[in-house]
Amino acid sequence: MILVTGGAGFIGSNFILDWLAHGGEPVVNFDKLTYAGNTLNVAALDGDSRYRLVRADICDRDAVERAFKEHGPRAVVHFAAESHVDRSIHAPADFIQTNVVGTFNLLEAARAHWQALEAEKQAFRFLHVSTDEVFGSLGPEDPAFSETTPYAPNSPYSASKAASDHLVRAYHHTYGLPVVTTNCSNNYGPRQFPEKLIPLMILNALAGKPLPVYGDGRNVRDWLYVGDHCAAIRRVLERGRPGEVYNIGGGAERKNLDVVETLCDILGELRSRGAGRYHDLVTFVKDRPGHDRRYAMDTSKIEAELGWRPEESLESGLRKTVRWYLDNADWVASVQTGAYRNWVETNYGGR
Ligand code: NAD
Ligand code: TYD
Repeated sequence: MILVTGGAGFIGSNFILDWLAHGGEPVVNFDKLTYAGNTLNVAALDGDSRYRLVRADICDRDAVERAFKEHGPRAVVHFAAESHVDRSIHAPADFIQTNVVGTFNLLEAARAHWQALEAEKQAFRFLHVSTDEVFGSLGPEDPAFSETTPYAPNSPYSASKAASDHLVRAYHHTYGLPVVTTNCSNNYGPRQFPEKLIPLMILNALAGKPLPVYGDGRNVRDWLYVGDHCAAIRRVLERGRPGEVYNIGGGAERKNLDVVETLCDILGELRSRGAGRYHDLVTFVKDRPGHDRRYAMDTSKIEAELGWRPEESLESGLRKTVRWYLDNADWVASVQTGAYRNWVETNYGGR
């Protein structure tokens, strides 16, 4: 059994579906179901004996310890986090609680569990999912981030993730806990909450609303299709070396404006806007405070050691993503109206 935290969110849900589809061990999904956690994301597993949801907060030490005692996981894959930079700028407190204190609780519980193991001790892993944003911002000519790039986080979000990475590292060096950390670039794909660039642009465009591009639209991100990310995590869990860090990136650096224009092209092809063009909706808005200019990932380590590389090009991945949002109008409506939250209140008594 593996314990996945944050498995009702965007990447976590894609990971659980991918993991079980590849014959992985049963999963316990430990998720608080915040605004970003959506049980519709894992609805395909309703009634599947290989899957179980525990609704709980990683900041709740007792609940975390109970989950380890009850389920005795062989590995932990830790996705749970507050994940949106703009929210961290407006309200950083939850980021410190969940990303830093929550990760600390998990590490403490994992350490106690691992130390008590006997035959299974060798196989135990704590896989910590982090971000390229811990490395700060690159200039246009700088080499991509590597695993040894010094940390220089710029937002409350990236600072909280950097703090959690340091704790994870320390638990390996101090206690020998078999941790592996992955730092990945911007993900996109099915089931992403429409506060992030790509789903926000798709849904605004379909609704004929402005497409708000921050600043001059020339900030660069390295886009990673979520399916490629899930394959990388599987590989790291199977063969990654304890104590090591692996960068995961899509090899797809693009300016934000280029991403938005490509989306407009794809939408125009798949769902014509009649007389208007989606491009006409592009609107430049005030820049994000402290907006990092460029992220890029050097993935040579994971390619050489674990034989992983991304399979999706940005264009093919965006096409799949647009199709998913067009084909899943119920999911979209539920997320936009907040109806998916009703399920939580009905099934968990409004906690
Ligand atoms: P998300 O916001 O879509 O989902 C987060 C999940 O964590 C939700 O299901 C939420 O309910 C759960 N959660 C939040 N606080 C919790 C708590 N206190 N206890 C238990 N569960 C809690 O996030 P995502 O985009 O899927 O990101 C997953 C991980 O990947 C995060 O650690 C994030 O920092 C990292 N990451 C994401 C990206 C990206 O582009 N989305 C890029 C790099 C790294
Ligand atoms: P986002 O998806 O929030 O991810 P991150 O901030 O973690 O990189 O944003 C991706 C890029 O898109 C980032 O440079 C900010 C920009 N952006 C916009 O221009 N408009 C938007 O409405 C959003 C949400 C993001």
